[in-house]
Amino acid sequence: MTQLQILVGTTSGNTEHLADHAADLIKARLDIDIAMHYEPSFDTLDQTQPWLIFLASHGAGDYGDSMLDFYAQLTDVDAVKPFPYAVIAIGESCYDTYCSAGRDIDQRLQQLGAERIYTRLEIDMLEDDPEAAFEQWYGGWISALRSCTQS
Ligand SMILES: Cc1cc2nc3c(=O)[nH]c(=O)nc-3n(C[C@H](O)[C@H](O)[C@H](O)COP(=O)(O)O)c2cc1C
Repeated sequence: MTQLQILVGTTSGNTEHLADHAADLIKARLDIDIAMHYEPSFDTLDQTQPWLIFLASHGAGDYGDSMLDFYAQLTDVDAVKPFPYAVIAIGESCYDTYCSAGRDIDQRLQQLGAERIYTRLEIDMLEDDPEAAFEQWYGGWISALRSCTQS
């Protein structure tokens, strides 16, 4: 059975709140298990399962605190399995480094060999309602996930 791996990169909690809400919505729509990773460690993540990454930018485009270790671990990796993934990048458009962390992890995972199955969602916390933005986005992601888990 599919077990979706949800990774959460947060410093002040907004992204965790959104990821928890998203997990509830996904469970209501899909018959799958979900593993929440609030402080993801690369070695314990299942690379045979799909990943959904919620990542806030902090500092000057750095990863949210709960994924700083993961960032360091990822820099030591040469390749990953071709698991399906998608990224929800959280930020504020007033920063030059708007959503840089989410953009970075998206690019890195693709370069390492993972399969991006759906367009990255970028949420501007100054303009967007994060839950509404996710709700608008996730129907397309579910279709993409269904196609790749059924094939
Ligand atoms: C000190 C600080 C630095 C930030 N740096 C960035 C940044 O470089 N790029 C960006 O898009 N947003 C940046 N933000 C905005 C955060 O991504 C935004 O506040 C987000 O909601 C934080 O999510 P979190 O509560 O899950 O940590 C920054 C916020 C703070 C407080």
